[in-house]
Amino acid sequence: RSALSAAIAGASTLALATVSLNAQAQQTITIGHTTSDNSHYSVGVDAFAEKLEELSDGAFVVDEQPSGALGGERDMIEGLQIGTLDAVVTSTGPLGNFVPETYVLDLPFLFEDYDHARCILDGEIGQDLLDKVEENDLVSLAWTENGFRHMTNSDRDIKTPEDAEGLKIRTMENEMHMAAFEEMDVQPTPMAFPELFTALQQGTVDGQENPISVILTSNMWEVQDRLSLTGHVYSPAIMLASPVLWDELSEEEREWFTEAARAGAEATRAEVSRLETEGVEELKEKGMTVVEDIDKSRFQEAVEPSYTTYTDEYGSEMLDRIRNND
Ligand code: PAF
Repeated sequence: RSALSAAIAGASTLALATVSLNAQAQQTITIGHTTSDNSHYSVGVDAFAEKLEELSDGAFVVDEQPSGALGGERDMIEGLQIGTLDAVVTSTGPLGNFVPETYVLDLPFLFEDYDHARCILDGEIGQDLLDKVEENDLVSLAWTENGFRHMTNSDRDIKTPEDAEGLKIRTMENEMHMAAFEEMDVQPTPMAFPELFTALQQGTVDGQENPISVILTSNMWEVQDRLSLTGHVYSPAIMLASPVLWDELSEEEREWFTEAARAGAEATRAEVSRLETEGVEELKEKGMTVVEDIDKSRFQEAVEPSYTTYTDEYGSEMLDRIRNND
């Protein structure tokens, strides 16, 4: 009997040792974003986590921190640089403050449609911009997507820039967006996204602009009743990692992260495309008035001077490359 107990005790010690060895070998990757846990970013993080766990045979697991739990996008990018978090999914909104070369992507009406934007980001131009990100204490894993931005407010049906005149619209902390709104005689009010819902509720701002996926999954329809499908700017997103994490990884592990990030981006893009149509219907069902007959050429004319604001500061090389797709 005592030999049997000794054998059982030995086996369970071995099992415990194996468990603790596995636990030690497993690394948790904390990844933050500001949209909710049913958003397009979250769909991408799930796909990233699944792929990374599969490629690493469970050596890496992902701890998703959605809804701005770790701060706004700008704060999180700073967190990556000093290593307080491992990875982030962010729009390019605040990225230009760290990597000015990416401002070009946030010019209004630059991309014709989703295919155009995705083709540029997946090609040589997109790769060159990812390389620029790398020169700024950040690791770029993949371009992903936020989507074409549309305006909401509770005051007017916006069909032309004149209809928006005088409104206080929350913008991202992005020079190009602010310049474009100023050209429309709108009062741009830059603010981190986690503060936006309360600002709309309290009337600190009259409106905001975001892709359908964000308007829907952040419950904007509870505090805004009009949506104008202006599609005034394409909003790219990017998955970034901390250089502190990166330095600890082997070449093989880095490849797992990059491959997993591409899987995440693909899933996010599919979700953005789905919500671009189905989401509008859902927002109508939730009571939003959707304004579809937008005078896009009037908007384009109004924001044209913001291109000069860009080229005066940053030159025209990248803009020309995007326009000529070379
Ligand atoms: O409006 C913004 O700040 C961005 O579109 C958001 C919602 C944080 C997603 O990147």
